[in-house]
Amino acid sequence: MASPNPNQATLLSAADTPLPSIKMLALATLAFSSFFVSLIVRPLLHASPYVPFHDPYYHAAHFTIKDSYMGHNFFDGWKWETLNDPTHGRVNYVDQYTAKQSNLSYATDSKFVMRADAFDKVDPNARGRDSVRITSYNAYDESVIVLDLQHMPEGCSTWPAFWSLSQKGPWPNGGEIDFIEGVNLASRNLASLHTTPQCTMPDGRQQSGQPTSTNCDSNLNYNQGCGVSFAKPASYGSPFNALGGGYYAIVRTSDAVRIWFWSRNEATIPADVSNPSQDLLSGQDHIYPDDSWGTPEAVFPLGEDGMCDYEKHFDPHALVFDLTFCGDWAGTVYSNDCGDNCEAFVNNNPSAFENAYWEINSLRIYTPS
Ligand SMILES: *[C@@H]1O[C@H](CO)[C@@H](O)[C@H](O)[C@H]1NC(C)=O
Repeated sequence: MASPNPNQATLLSAADTPLPSIKMLALATLAFSSFFVSLIVRPLLHASPYVPFHDPYYHAAHFTIKDSYMGHNFFDGWKWETLNDPTHGRVNYVDQYTAKQSNLSYATDSKFVMRADAFDKVDPNARGRDSVRITSYNAYDESVIVLDLQHMPEGCSTWPAFWSLSQKGPWPNGGEIDFIEGVNLASRNLASLHTTPQCTMPDGRQQSGQPTSTNCDSNLNYNQGCGVSFAKPASYGSPFNALGGGYYAIVRTSDAVRIWFWSRNEATIPADVSNPSQDLLSGQDHIYPDDSWGTPEAVFPLGEDGMCDYEKHFDPHALVFDLTFCGDWAGTVYSNDCGDNCEAFVNNNPSAFENAYWEINSLRIYTPS
């Protein structure tokens, strides 16, 4: 995009000196033909499905399946973490054995479910309500991630997230990317980056969502990060679940992180998102993010010439699903939607957590090829 049009450069320098009319005519012809090519021929080329994705932030043309999770194999590829919630939630993350025993994690051949305990009251002296936080053993750099999600945790006090994190750290070194996140009764998704200093986002971007802040430095504004609130209704929470969920697709390259969302019944879901090739075992399944995917909900430009350098701020990330309650975000804004005591609500109302669960149909990760 930065390289000047060579035809234009010729015309400009030629204008400085007097020219014989035959040369003027030749230049005029050249100018017209470049106009013809740019306005009439290029759009036609662009309409062809074989033209690479035309985008200033984009390198890789296509990606091949690397890992595919569906049903039982989540138990092999992910670690059930038992740490104290770093965001100070009213949560007790349990290990895989406990999660299976108590049915907080459950799989069939085609489903994987992670839930909060919805049966027992929580002792005020206990660490919190039982829930699950899982992290992938594999980490990914440039990649395409497609999540087919049937249901996400919803309701007062909940703070679920699907996100990625540097394995090296320490946080925020290597970066954090939040793909799906929200709290309490939210119905729009918020995607954000959290980074070391000197990573900012431009205001004008080719995205449908609305920026909520443009500085990604986690030291600022109580670690708000640079967020984009999705435009599509039903991208989060109870409206998302009511329509049978949908598809999240993330394309992470050294040029940008882009995030798309399609509700379950949208007519415009790209075929390679909704119907992956069944040829997964032979490693022949490809995905081609291109113009046919439409405008992303969120775009975070990361090119060298931009305001957030990919190499400086990001390294390979593990993927994380979690579900906490109250804490630094859901707790702080709890009274806007839900009442006056988030922690007491979590302790005393187990049945309020019946819809606090993730139900995943599949998760596929593709890497450049
Ligand atoms: C475990 O959870 C799954 C998914 O919610 C449910 O279908 C199943 O009936 C539960 N099993 C038991 C023993 O409660």
